[in-house]
Amino acid sequence: MAVYPGTFDPVTNGHISLIERASGLFDKVIVAVVENSQKKNFFDIDKRVELMNTSIDDLNNKNIEVTRFDGLLAAYAEKIGACAIVRGLRAISDFEYEFQMALMNRKIAREVETVFLMPALSWVYLSSSLVKELARNGGDISGLVPESVNQAFAKRPS
Ligand code: PNS
Repeated sequence: MAVYPGTFDPVTNGHISLIERASGLFDKVIVAVVENSQKKNFFDIDKRVELMNTSIDDLNNKNIEVTRFDGLLAAYAEKIGACAIVRGLRAISDFEYEFQMALMNRKIAREVETVFLMPALSWVYLSSSLVKELARNGGDISGLVPESVNQAFAKRPS
């Protein structure tokens, strides 16, 4: 079992690509949405979880489950018996932060390995921050995020 953690504010097609890949590698993938991130989120925790649930519905993979967590990720992974934490790597710029986090997580939970996966090439440039910036400025995000996320932005004042 692996944990795929994130803020998912909002979930993008890049995240979905990662979840799909991880679900082919592990018997079970727990998509863990962080409750209190340091970031000021656009969508609250309930909405982020709801959007993740509707987004993974399309994958039709029975080995994917969405949960929420608070506190330390590595402790959470250990508590639920996950052998791995999955993180996405898009570009070299992601590496330093991810490297530090992976080593810190290993210090907290020695048995839990961090596994890095790359999204499909078409999503390498994509991030939740860019999606929010695009939406805020009236850009079309429909090809970048699951349909439920697109609709959630359409309903909300920016
Ligand atoms: O999608 P993100 O924002 O890149 O995800 C970051 C996340 C949620 C994985 C990270 O902030 C996290 O693990 N937060 C929980 C606290 C923690 O364990 N931090 C790392 C060790 S200090």
